[in-house]
Amino acid sequence: MVAAHTGASVLTRSSVGPILERGNVVNVVLMGPPGAGKGTQAGTVADLVGVTHVASGDLFRELAQQDSELAQLVQAYMNRGDLVPDDLTVAVVMDRLDQPDCQNGFILDGFPRTVGQARALDRRLSEESRRIDQIINLVVPEDTLLARLSGRWLCRRCHSSYHSLFSPPTWPGLCNRCGGTLYQRDDDTLQTAKRRLRVYERDTMPVLDYYRAAERLVDVDGDRPVGEVSEALREAIMTSRMDV
Ligand code: AP5
Repeated sequence: MVAAHTGASVLTRSSVGPILERGNVVNVVLMGPPGAGKGTQAGTVADLVGVTHVASGDLFRELAQQDSELAQLVQAYMNRGDLVPDDLTVAVVMDRLDQPDCQNGFILDGFPRTVGQARALDRRLSEESRRIDQIINLVVPEDTLLARLSGRWLCRRCHSSYHSLFSPPTWPGLCNRCGGTLYQRDDDTLQTAKRRLRVYERDTMPVLDYYRAAERLVDVDGDRPVGEVSEALREAIMTSRMDV
């Protein structure tokens, strides 16, 4: 998803110039619970840094549109707020990371979500002499997460994200960026959002422990205006490049 909080970001392409000038590849994992702002931030920051935004949720929502048994299966997992099984998830995401536009860097949003997925990612990247440069965890309190999810609207065409209170579109129901139609996700009901938060605690918090134990995780406060969070993410990514 691409941020649609027009005017909120203080970042410009020139402010990330050092990364672009050095032509460095930068691979980032952006973690955080449902509604933390991963899609909002990953789209903006990926554009600024010149890398590709890969969101496992967007990949599954595209897959679920197809006319197949697999599509129905994926849709069922998503509607319940459950995770899609690791084998399928790893295959779908790795296939995306193998595409040419990911060779110069990517920001992963929504993956990995289990320790099995994190291990599979490490294994595959190291086989290809690639690696994750920075793992960032967006920290947001639960009441804020639920408020964000219940008011979210998305563009069907370009995935831009809006909020009925925090960042409404200029014209109700239409995307500022491309004019596409806005819709609400089936899994953004209060009941399913709560279920997704419980699944996150059970299956994804151990991934934070996995990365923290290896001293690979940076926490960023995501409970601030969108532009401030973008700036903090930019700094975290720049720091990772200085460490090379
Ligand atoms: P996915 O699409 O990844 O959903 P999620 O992780 O639940 O994350 P969200 O998209 O809900 O939140 P976000 O952090 O991107 O928030 P956003 O930026 O939109 O996954 C959906 C499903 O797919 C899963 O349940 C599962 O079934 C399956 N799946 C996906 N990946 C999988 C995997 N790896 N393994 C297995 N299954 C997988 O922001 C939310 C709202 O807040 C927006 O309205 C936005 O405008 C607003 N907002 C954002 N930031 C701010 C801010 N700073 N201030 C005010 N408002 C803000």
